[in-house]
Amino acid sequence: MIDHAGTADGAADHPGAFRLVVLISGGGSNLAALIAAEQAGELGATVVAVGADRPSAAGLQLAADAGVPTFVERVGDHPDRVGWDHALADRISAFAPDLVVSAGFLKLVGDEFLRRFGDRYLNTHNSLLPAFPGIHGPADALAYGVKVTGATLFFVDDGVDTGPILAQVAVPVHDDDTVDELTERIKQAERRQLVEQVGLLARRGWTVNGRRVSLTVSERASESSAQRPAPQRSKGRA
Ligand code: GRF
Repeated sequence: MIDHAGTADGAADHPGAFRLVVLISGGGSNLAALIAAEQAGELGATVVAVGADRPSAAGLQLAADAGVPTFVERVGDHPDRVGWDHALADRISAFAPDLVVSAGFLKLVGDEFLRRFGDRYLNTHNSLLPAFPGIHGPADALAYGVKVTGATLFFVDDGVDTGPILAQVAVPVHDDDTVDELTERIKQAERRQLVEQVGLLARRGWTVNGRRVSLTVSERASESSAQRPAPQRSKGRA
């Protein structure tokens, strides 16, 4: 069984770091990019834990190999979805994250989770939202015949891929693309975007105001200050 941590003392690790908890369901190539950037000293943040909704998520081993605590919270281990949602939120809270990243986490979270992490729960999606939400973004883009698609980073709200957008990157669709080829091309751009944007959030803080997401501190101010700004989160959702 892969469940290396989830202990309440998780919050005591990495004092002073900008703390990330990453949620996955699969291979974890986005997670791998975050960990690699951290190990190279280029992330500006620390992955303090990795959580999954299934023990088979390959990214769990990747995290464990990197010495990152992992946990698994399965829906089926709870009487209902609300119970799972609370348990997942509790697991994450134990690591006191500044930001929670869904990197291929294939579960919609519920009200309690969003109450606790709603303006600091980031999801990476493999299309240019609002086009092609859901779990078949690249296939849907190919079937529609668009010439450009991409990846979107957004703060999760109570809809499906509807939350306020932090960043987007465009990726060309080639005439002879297969779904796998397009998926991989998107993933490469998606990983770069995720690493870059997490660093920006950590350095500059952020505000979510309605549908608008902005970085709080200017690039120049963040460069001239050794201090990391506390994220300022406005709850003024429209
Ligand atoms: C990403 O492309 C993400 O957009 C989608 O699932 C994929 C996860 O890939 N929701 P990985 O597990 O990080 O390799």
